[in-house]
Amino acid sequence: MNPVKPQAAANWLRKKSQLRPKLAIVLGSGFHHVLAELRVAKKIPYAQIPGFPKPTVSGHAGELYFGHLGGTPVLVLSGRAHFYEGHPMKRVTFAIRTLAAFGIMDLLLTNAAGGINNNFRAGDFMVLADHINFMGTNPLRGPAIEGLPRFVDLTETYDKKLRGLLLKAGKNSKQKLRSGVYLAVSGPSYETPAEIRAFAKLGADAVGMSTVPEAIVARQCGLNVAAVSCITNLAAGISKKNLSHAEVLETAERVKKSGAALLKYFAEHYQKM
Ligand code: HPA
Repeated sequence: MNPVKPQAAANWLRKKSQLRPKLAIVLGSGFHHVLAELRVAKKIPYAQIPGFPKPTVSGHAGELYFGHLGGTPVLVLSGRAHFYEGHPMKRVTFAIRTLAAFGIMDLLLTNAAGGINNNFRAGDFMVLADHINFMGTNPLRGPAIEGLPRFVDLTETYDKKLRGLLLKAGKNSKQKLRSGVYLAVSGPSYETPAEIRAFAKLGADAVGMSTVPEAIVARQCGLNVAAVSCITNLAAGISKKNLSHAEVLETAERVKKSGAALLKYFAEHYQKM
């Protein structure tokens, strides 16, 4: 149970800095290097923020930053709580409700994903055009929340304007940036080749274990959402190789500068949008 209300966490955060960013970025594998580009105003470990869960996966620090990226005020969340860690959805998405209560309007989610589309290569990036929720549950399941829609429309989960800005950032950084459908599984096992063949038939271009719960909750809260994946590996059975977390981290390390450049360009031009 998480007795802390997102509004209380947001009020707590407001006392930590005078900055009032409209844009928040959640960092997944392949994107943490952007922290080197961030002019940090304030860094806060998740452990100190009321209601925030502690992430347990290696490579995910669990810190919230107030700062400027490419001159734009931003909140950066380095590390996230995953469903596969055993957190209930309420905890997985608590940070998103906190961001909404804080006054964030636009949310950029980043993640690592396995490539299903045959044209994808490890090290490519993919802007989410849409998603398929295969996690077996929905983060909005539970009592209705007063003042928020019960049945949330997901016809345009990923905002057209923000998506356009990401694609522009890709062109600018000469980074291979695809567009596609992200399918979310609960994990933490990787998929079987048979599952990946099935997901391909369903229309998925990439597969991962995060982002979708956050995007759904963000839409319920009225935030505009964009998301981008770092394709860290080809999904099971697409290449001859077996999958490993080590490969995911290796690719993330190899393309970290491109990931950082994408996000920096996005933040810099966000203000002019
Ligand atoms: N499957 C699921 N999640 C992932 C993968 C994958 O192949 N790569 C990175 N995250």
